Amino acid sequence: MSAQLKTKNSKLKTSAVPPRWHHEVERVLINEEQLARRVKALAREIEKDFCGREVVVVALLSGTVMFLADLIRQLNLPLRLDFMGVSSYGGGTESGRLVFTKELRLDVRGRDVLLVDDILDTGKTLGRVAAKIRALRPRRLKTCVLLDKSARRVEKIRADYVGFKIPDVFVIGYGLDFDEHYRQLPFVGVLRPPICPKA
Ligand code: XMP
Repeated sequence: MSAQLKTKNSKLKTSAVPPRWHHEVERVLINEEQLARRVKALAREIEKDFCGREVVVVALLSGTVMFLADLIRQLNLPLRLDFMGVSSYGGGTESGRLVFTKELRLDVRGRDVLLVDDILDTGKTLGRVAAKIRALRPRRLKTCVLLDKSARRVEKIRADYVGFKIPDVFVIGYGLDFDEHYRQLPFVGVLRPPICPKA
């Protein structure tokens, strides 16, 4: 089960944007404490489903960097790690043509695979990558995303593990970028217009 974010009258404590980021970040959507708590809970869900079996974690570059590091440190399972690189060319925030920039190195045939991405938005990326992995005949493929922005979904796809459902805003931080900036923010924030790209 994912954590539904309540943006108004939230029971979740809202955090102030650190002064250093005031010009660029409109608000903190998910703070460090909420991220840490949810990542731990996700790890427990995944452990339960994988029942101690070795898992090949396949993470998509580069937005998963922080989520992945936190998630695998919490995962009490034997695991091997590999990465895939996917870029979309299409302008703005729309996912355009997908190009693979890094292929899998490990053989996943007959293996249990956990595919990890930062955000499920239109669903094109996860759908395409999952199909590519499925063609390699893993024993089982599960998908895990930190964020689920279902408002813009065009593909019929859902992730098996979701950290947070979020509204239709462009988010940055905790690995997510805008033009390769802001990945280092320890929280997930909303980019301030007019910096914010057209959704
Ligand atoms: P799709 O639309 O294919 O998108 O599900 C998945 C990829 O698009 C990027 N993306 C975002 N990146 N803030 C970001 O920093 C966002 O709000 C956002 N929405 C989509 C991301 O790389 C993701 O893997």
